[in-house]
Amino acid sequence: MMHLILADSELELVPQPIQGHPAVVKHAKLRKKRPSNLLLDATYHHQAIRKRYGSEAERRGRPDIAHFFLMNAQESVLNKQGRLRVYVHTRNNEVIYINPETRLPKSYPRFVGLMENLFHNGVVPNAESPLLWLEKMSLPALVDKIGAHSIVMSEKGAIKKLGNLDMPGDVVVIIGGFPSGDYITDMSFADEIVSIFDGTLMAWVTAYEVIAEYERSYR
Ligand SMILES: C[S@@+](CC[C@H](N)C(=O)[O-])C[C@H]1O[C@@H](n2cnc3c(N)ncnc32)[C@H](O)[C@@H]1O
Repeated sequence: MMHLILADSELELVPQPIQGHPAVVKHAKLRKKRPSNLLLDATYHHQAIRKRYGSEAERRGRPDIAHFFLMNAQESVLNKQGRLRVYVHTRNNEVIYINPETRLPKSYPRFVGLMENLFHNGVVPNAESPLLWLEKMSLPALVDKIGAHSIVMSEKGAIKKLGNLDMPGDVVVIIGGFPSGDYITDMSFADEIVSIFDGTLMAWVTAYEVIAEYERSYR
């Protein structure tokens, strides 16, 4: 089984310090929601993010990365074979668990609505038959709970060809859910830190490369 984690992903509700910023208030009115119930999205809240978070502004508020990643992972052959478990870990140390049979919305606005619902209620659609649920948990704690060989994907890692990745049986693969910069979590707990390409790849491209490699090489 491959356990694929999108780590330190920039997925969060609008933080309290910027809920009153005019750009956020305007967007909340348009969405007919409270600012505190909106997903932080750089497309709409960039001014507010930049004013408050300065140098971090280029990475905050990127739910689109989680959306692309989840589309690729959930619709993959490996998932359809029942050999993939997908998790989204956030910058605030929450973990989103995803039932492998979940078909996520392809429409981005519907995905945003679903995530807002999840952050608000902790589970969707309901606790009796959950498709997605949220728990407070750090990345090392999640990896420890899974208990398999762990590989962090990073352009700063040791260069390895995809075909040389050590993915016997159960494996945890960690991919950054942020557009630039580095992991916030200290990755020294991981067994390996690996780069599969001489340059920066998008998170969802990295995800599909390792998913496809595992699907073909480890049957
Ligand atoms: C857009 S990158 C984030 C940029 C960041 N400088 C980095 O590589 O961590 C998103 C994620 O894709 C993966 N990634 C990007 N380039 C990679 C590479 N050459 N080898 C392995 N993973 C890569 C990493 O997991 C990374 O965190």
